[in-house]
Amino acid sequence: MVVSAHPEASRVGMEIMQKGGNAFDAAIATQFALAVVHPAAGNIGGGGFMVARSNSGEVATLDFRETAPASATETMYQDSLGNVVQGLSTDGHLAVGVPGSVNGMVKIHQKYGSLPWAELVQPSVDLARNGVVLTEKEASGLNSTREDFLKNNKHQPYLVQEQEWQAGDTLRHPDLARTLERIRDKGREGFYAGETADLLVKEMQRGNGIISHEDLAKYTSVWREPIIGDYKGYKIISMGPPSSGGIALSQLLKMVEPYELRQYGWQSTEAIQVMTEAERRVYADRATYLGDPDFVEVPMEELLDEQYLKSRMSSMSLAQATPSAEVKAGELPVFESEETTHFSIVDPAGNAVAITTTINGSYGSYVVVEGAGFLLNNEMDDFSAKPGVPNMFGLIGGKANSIQPSKRMLSAMTPTILEKDGKLFMVVGTPGGSTIITSVFQTILNVLEHDMTMQQAVAAPRFHHQWLPDEIQHTTDAIPAEVRAELQRKGYTLKQRGQYGRVDAILVLPDGRLEGGADPRGDDVAAGF
Ligand code: DON
Repeated sequence: MVVSAHPEASRVGMEIMQKGGNAFDAAIATQFALAVVHPAAGNIGGGGFMVARSNSGEVATLDFRETAPASATETMYQDSLGNVVQGLSTDGHLAVGVPGSVNGMVKIHQKYGSLPWAELVQPSVDLARNGVVLTEKEASGLNSTREDFLKNNKHQPYLVQEQEWQAGDTLRHPDLARTLERIRDKGREGFYAGETADLLVKEMQRGNGIISHEDLAKYTSVWREPIIGDYKGYKIISMGPPSSGGIALSQLLKMVEPYELRQYGWQSTEAIQVMTEAERRVYADRATYLGDPDFVEVPMEELLDEQYLKSRMSSMSLAQATPSAEVKAGELPVFESEETTHFSIVDPAGNAVAITTTINGSYGSYVVVEGAGFLLNNEMDDFSAKPGVPNMFGLIGGKANSIQPSKRMLSAMTPTILEKDGKLFMVVGTPGGSTIITSVFQTILNVLEHDMTMQQAVAAPRFHHQWLPDEIQHTTDAIPAEVRAELQRKGYTLKQRGQYGRVDAILVLPDGRLEGGADPRGDDVAAGF
């Protein structure tokens, strides 16, 4: 089964497995297909993380996150007075980190692939050449971003046409087809060297970007140690730094474990309080301690220590809210120093792959590499442009996530696999910037504590707290009116917001069948056989 953000991408992944490919082959094909059919987030110009578990229980996590270019500096988004310049880290050429996705796919293939590489890339070449029929959501996404594309490109990118896009229109990508052919034929070299690299560097020079040939030649993805957590006997396998996802998710689950969430009931005042109080404390830790482990010492063991997590919750009370102003990052004993997309895959042998991949904002930096047909990320905004100044998701950070040459920006992406009694149980993840961690947290609890099916858990309305701003963000239907009133009486600020997250997940049912959960907020589809 493949659950992804687009029917065509799910189909491509499924067909690879029908041809005998494994979950890793399917993941590579799905990643490239999303770059064609879901340009808002699918990518070759971005980066991401893979969490995988083989049917024998072997676990692997790959970090193909973007890096800061070699000539990036700590204050590159500030003016001469030290103020952060609006838009510089989010729009246009200077916002772009060195892309990691193609290198990531090559590494996954080298280690786990079973079908030839060219067979995995070919379906995307075909999609780009023959064209993709736009869904309603893709058409309106492109129309609402038209001015941004025109502002941030010197040429007219293929994503813009004279009249508005309509659902049912066919979008053809001849330049992207040629780029994908180079990747198909030359692998890594088809992107990080030769014509693609030349076009990318030329594009940088057109718009004051700073990615060089050396940056591209040097880029490499990294196999990392997974973060392994535990919740009531379920093993939680997730992504470690430079993503904050795995640590934060494990902290959250451990912090709420002692509370009777099941008895409190789904979206009850008490359940929302316990989850919110855990969330604000975890996001405070995140802002202080987490960054790229190749550059800063991340106190992982301390942050995941059970006693520490218990002590973090000791200041919480069900009588009233703890104001975020009173919550700081925890004192650790020995420590010194909205676009992304997720897909979940399980193959017939039981191998599981969870990949969250991103160009950060919807359509990234809006910059399309002229002649190469792909969008570049604006991932540099995930760094802290200045201590205490929020990024586009309202997240703040400090020294641990400051910009340095070749460093990776902190992420919230949380591709996660759950195991029960030594067997695969769930594959889950989502886009959503800062809300990624809490959406994965809620989806897991919906199944484990509130007995929802995978599809119900994915579709259920959500709420989110991230320490600062000190508010529970919720969608219209997420919290019953009387619960909202009670929370307000207890000192919580509530803020209604639009829909967020597109969780795509797979649950292994007791009889071994797979249940897909495809988020109804997008065009997401589960495809299986
Ligand atoms: O890595 C991160 O945490 C962000 N760049 C993810 C961005 C995202 O999910 C936007 N999608 N809605």
